[in-house]
Amino acid sequence: MKIALIGFGTVGQSLVKTLNEKREYLKDNYNFDPKLVAVSDILKGSVMDPEGLDLAQLLRLVKETGKIDGYVGGVKGLDALETIKRCGAEVVVEVAWTNLETGEPGITHIRESLRAGRHVVTSNKGPIALAYHELKRLAEQEGVELRFECTVMSGTPAIAVGMENLAGQRISEIKGIVNGTTNYILTKMGEGVSYIDALGEAQRLGYAEADPTADLEGWDAVGKIVILANTLMGTYLKPGDVIREGVSKISQKDVEDALGEGKRIKLIARAWSEGGEVKARVGPERVCLSDPLAGVDRNLNALTYVTDALGGVTIIGPGAGGVETGHGVLGDLLAIHRKKP
Ligand SMILES: NC(=O)c1ccc[n+]([C@@H]2O[C@H](COP(=O)([O-])OP(=O)(O)OC[C@H]3O[C@@H](n4cnc5c(N)ncnc54)[C@H](OP(=O)(O)O)[C@@H]3O)[C@@H](O)[C@H]2O)c1
Repeated sequence: MKIALIGFGTVGQSLVKTLNEKREYLKDNYNFDPKLVAVSDILKGSVMDPEGLDLAQLLRLVKETGKIDGYVGGVKGLDALETIKRCGAEVVVEVAWTNLETGEPGITHIRESLRAGRHVVTSNKGPIALAYHELKRLAEQEGVELRFECTVMSGTPAIAVGMENLAGQRISEIKGIVNGTTNYILTKMGEGVSYIDALGEAQRLGYAEADPTADLEGWDAVGKIVILANTLMGTYLKPGDVIREGVSKISQKDVEDALGEGKRIKLIARAWSEGGEVKARVGPERVCLSDPLAGVDRNLNALTYVTDALGGVTIIGPGAGGVETGHGVLGDLLAIHRKKP
């Protein structure tokens, strides 16, 4: 399998590291021996070689210089779209920045990759939240796959569980904790730490962005519940359709009062069927201790699918991290590999 990588940040580099470190394991156990033929990143540079790039050299360069321009060999300087056009890859891995307002540049990267007849694996929420149905149709027309497991809960299986493992069941509700930053803050508030101190801790530990607004105001969770609703409940929601409330108005007293009632405050993202429609909401809820979501603490994520056959099925696991997300992307690549004749 020839792979082109668009975006060489945390996830892109983790994927390359995993492919390098697990080369023998993947070959022996999955007969999977991929070739990375191109990497294109807006600031770090770009290199393409149809014979395959040297992964160790790429990783050393980016670690030592922050760039890959010094790569020995290959064609340099192609931007993402030129790379997508010329790389000759079977699969494009799109791991550039997320933008939940426009979906760009991801939508264009994915659309052009599919039009060029290339499978796409992405961890980028924006394009799937805003243009899933269009991109899925395009993938079907071109006879290629569009996989996006890591857009929700990073490497913890969530999309594949709903789409493949629960296939044939009616999902009437999806609810979960899909943002690690806010869950960390609410957990620490339950331990008596103030909102501001908990946010500072989350930032020091690398869970929260320097500008954490998208997390705190619930936008990140909105993107994820839109993805889940549109991909698994057959609906056409937009982020603006989701009723949204963040965690910034939660006080220490609210958290303590909830604990007094035997409940825990969690930021819950929820999509449910009602009167033939799918509705969605993100907001703080008082969750009973008997609910598996109540015990999901710190930066862990969790998702409960409610289905006609099984009732509630809950998945708990990491919701972010380079290694975790890189492995989720690898899982999608292996799923495409398995389907090859
Ligand atoms: N990290 C996680 O835990 C995680 C989990 C799930 C999903 N995701 C999603 O996965 C994607 C990648 O995440 P990340 O953590 O790797 O982010 P990141 O470290 O910021 O890396 C993104 C990379 O994409 C590059 N880029 C942006 N626009 C580009 C363009 N037009 N053409 C080529 N490269 C471009 C950036 O370039 P420069 O920085 O060089 O300018 C950066 O190196 C994001 O969409 C993110 O939301 C991340």
